[in-house]
Amino acid sequence: MVAALRASFAAQLSATVDLPSPPVSDRLDAMKTSGPWTRAAAAAGLLKNGEAHPSVFAQMSARALAHGALNLGQGFPDDPPPAAVADAAVEAIRQGHNQYPPGLGEAGLRGAIAEHQARWYGLGWDPASEVLVTTGATEALAATILALVEPGDEVITLEPFYDQYAAIIALAGGVHRTVPVTSRPAADTHTGSGTGSDTGTGSGTDTGAASGDLVLEASTDALRDAFSERTRLVLVNTPHNPTGLMLGKDALQAIVDEAVRHDALIATDEVYEHLTFGAAHRPIATLPGAQDRTISISSAGKTFSVTGWKIGWITARAELITAITGTKQWLTYSSGAPFQPAVAVGLGMPSAAFADLATDLRERRDLLTDGLREIGFRVSVPAAGYFTVADAGPLGEPDADTLAERLPIEAGVVAIPLSAFYRDGDAGEASAYLRMAFCKSRSTIEQALEKLDAWAAPRR
Ligand SMILES: Cc1ncc(COP(=O)(O)O)c(C=O)c1O
Repeated sequence: MVAALRASFAAQLSATVDLPSPPVSDRLDAMKTSGPWTRAAAAAGLLKNGEAHPSVFAQMSARALAHGALNLGQGFPDDPPPAAVADAAVEAIRQGHNQYPPGLGEAGLRGAIAEHQARWYGLGWDPASEVLVTTGATEALAATILALVEPGDEVITLEPFYDQYAAIIALAGGVHRTVPVTSRPAADTHTGSGTGSDTGTGSGTDTGAASGDLVLEASTDALRDAFSERTRLVLVNTPHNPTGLMLGKDALQAIVDEAVRHDALIATDEVYEHLTFGAAHRPIATLPGAQDRTISISSAGKTFSVTGWKIGWITARAELITAITGTKQWLTYSSGAPFQPAVAVGLGMPSAAFADLATDLRERRDLLTDGLREIGFRVSVPAAGYFTVADAGPLGEPDADTLAERLPIEAGVVAIPLSAFYRDGDAGEASAYLRMAFCKSRSTIEQALEKLDAWAAPRR
């Protein structure tokens, strides 16, 4: 086990438990053991020279603490949950919802998920057999991939991608195929390629992007070309982390058509479904031919600002739910008893309450993107989600990896290099790009902008 990981474990252990040193080091030595975990670590870019390293998120959060820097790195909000949701959780604990909930999830929550899918998207699901509650979207994704991907099967995702995907695909022995999200200046924008438009796959054109901003997009042809006779699963993350890209209808339909042609399954990651700033989210399961082969995944964490509750869910045909339950039940069986009824309350909120959450977040997106643009970064104005991508190239900083290490010290601000979301950390044209979170309080964003402005002044 690496020295860094050992030191971090030892620090965590000694911070909480007063253990004598020999047993601790014995236990850490045992973690030298080889095994499937090394595939996951390697795929996530955390295994270097045979040694495991903490993720860039953990490293950057540690830097934020060490240097007292403002953390625009990790995607957790400063906001409290909606009061009705928080109250329902407290009430559920007091009412005795504290023991194992059913493996498929509380009946009330499964009903609320089915109603939510019908109300927002017109999708019909049987709450008894076609809904599965999970420990966050994280478990839903892991259980889905582990249940359905055989060694050698190909799994397609966009790149950059949420880091868990590569790790779990590798754990399953799958082969990860990616479709690049590319960037171009907004000045080249052509009509109809805007975020959420029926034809486009791009991000930024109808979301307040200024001339010269970054537009991020995925080519529909490249999506089609990624399929082969070995494709088992296409994992569609829209709205997308880290870019905020929303795939348009044509791109989604192309994915469905190719999945049908190759008899592949579709899994989705829709955790930012309600945090959209222009066009509404369009689940791929709503497209012709999609519902029967799609495993739709979402969670409460981002929508209701409860990322620590870890309540997620899957909607899919009963046969797929049964298969996925076949792995999910051995991972956690069930979790989050008092949070399940609280999330049911959240999902039942009036549509206007969901809209208010997105409007509030949109204002903070604008605060951050406008501020970064004025400071001299080239920004992308995301269509959805928690994050903006900022290019530090115009400030004479071509290497976001080293910049992200220096920023907490030089500017007092933490950001994540986009390379963290690429295989082998190779971000190519995005190597000067940073991801910054705007799900933080206005005052945190304002202070971060002031600090970045002072840092950038001599570079302009
Ligand atoms: C795209 C994406 N998928 C899944 C997750 C994890 O969701 P959960 O916290 O519900 O496990 C995240 C969290 O950052 C995410 O950004």
